Amino acid sequence: MYNEKVMDHFMNPRNVGEIEDAEAIGEVGNPICGDIMRMYLKIDNNDIITDVKFKTFGCGSAIATSSMATEMIKGKTVREALRLTNMAVVEALDGLPPAKVHCSVLAERAVKTAIYNYAKERNLTYKELDGFDPNDDHDGHDHDEE
Ligand code: FES
Repeated sequence: MYNEKVMDHFMNPRNVGEIEDAEAIGEVGNPICGDIMRMYLKIDNNDIITDVKFKTFGCGSAIATSSMATEMIKGKTVREALRLTNMAVVEALDGLPPAKVHCSVLAERAVKTAIYNYAKERNLTYKELDGFDPNDDHDGHDHDEE
């Protein structure tokens, strides 16, 4: 049911934990299953994400996709991280069973929520966040959930 890449990221997830002095923290719940994810980002003065960690009560697919997502945004700019979609993460993992694709939304939303909070605190605007509402379960993207 799960391919090798997914199993690897599930069994040996990268970047699990918390960052105490994180510039950005985002917590989201998955409306479909009720699972929770918290994402911590270190962001330097050049808007580069220098470190990222996550904690989740989510399932194996949530762990695998978050692990992959953290690897994909580490070292990237905030803007690049905002452009990362859950489907890009699923593709990087060579796919998930269709019933588990909703789990991958947690990582995307947690990253966006963390940056949303960061931007709000510092009065920054990122056009990639236009229309994003951390309290809205549907942010307008087609997540191709089922
Ligand atoms: Fe909840 Fe996967 S079942 S995140």
